[in-house]
Amino acid sequence: PLALESVQVLASKNLGTIPSRYIRHDLVQKVDHEILVKEIPVINLSKLIDSDAGFSQEEMDKLHLACQEWGFFQLVNHGVAEEVMKKMIEDVSSFFNLPFEHKKQCSQDAEGYGQALVFSEEQKLDWGDMLFLRTQPVALRNYQVWPAQHLIPTFRETVSMYSLEMEKVRTILLGLMAKSLGVDEGNFINMFRDGSQQSMRMNYYPPCPEASKVLGISPHSDATGLTILLQLNQVDGLQIRHDGTWLPVKLLPGALLVNIGDIIEVIPILSNGIYKSIEHRVIVSKEKERISVAAFHETHESVEIGPLPELIINGETAKYRSVKNYDEFEKIFLSRKLDGKSLLEFL
Ligand code: SIN
Ligand code: FE2
Repeated sequence: PLALESVQVLASKNLGTIPSRYIRHDLVQKVDHEILVKEIPVINLSKLIDSDAGFSQEEMDKLHLACQEWGFFQLVNHGVAEEVMKKMIEDVSSFFNLPFEHKKQCSQDAEGYGQALVFSEEQKLDWGDMLFLRTQPVALRNYQVWPAQHLIPTFRETVSMYSLEMEKVRTILLGLMAKSLGVDEGNFINMFRDGSQQSMRMNYYPPCPEASKVLGISPHSDATGLTILLQLNQVDGLQIRHDGTWLPVKLLPGALLVNIGDIIEVIPILSNGIYKSIEHRVIVSKEKERISVAAFHETHESVEIGPLPELIINGETAKYRSVKNYDEFEKIFLSRKLDGKSLLEFL
């Protein structure tokens, strides 16, 4: 659900100080130099698929460990053409560069352009705007909230192309994860088969005069299956919770960032908690705008979100209760504000 307000408009007023609803008094910006030397795992996909490089068990072990202990990894040699990624960033930038009057047209209650919905008077606001689009299956697209064709003529084609590339990467990764988990690969991939939902959250974080006191996105874990993130090159801002601290992600040029969502954590809802959906947040810069696109991949509507029987071994009990399907799961998610991993605690 979106509120039709714009941080971008607010930022353009060049206020010296910003409204108190954005200021977080509890924000710890302590830089722990120990932790800065830690980097999230980098997975080289060309070592995991049939290619000249050959299959590497070592890389496979790295992937399994990344999913278990980090919930996040950078993906390089992922096979998505650089031009497709560049064009995506370009068209998304074009959207946010449109006058507010035009962007406003792309707003409807649960989709399109705006700011995260406010659930209470006290709730702090995030320093960022978004364009939230359903991208797959095509029948679920609501073109009313997409930018008008004459404003950004290539937008639809670019998003379509990028969307299919993301599905390809998703399917490859799910197959590899199934192998690592020792579950049936076909069964696992089938849960995300054709017709499963993919949506994209395109984020725009304007520079902020009080950058150290705000967050671009509040701490949360993704209420999705698998998320694949693209960001404007060299403008970082994402931090993940690792070993009790917030660790900044320095994304390699051309890399995609992949993270495990709640649904994969829960499937014994996919892995009975073996793979972790990790909390993350976004900080913003004083000088630079930041753009990112998170592509969320969900399980098929026919899939009950709950533990895979084969992962509940030796009378071990399921860690979460089951939810009928992704639609029900999304309803629960949309009814709650972003708040760490509270959604999983709720299950
Ligand atoms: C998110 O979608 O949680 C944050 C994406 C980002 O801007 O890095
Ligand atoms: Fe997220």
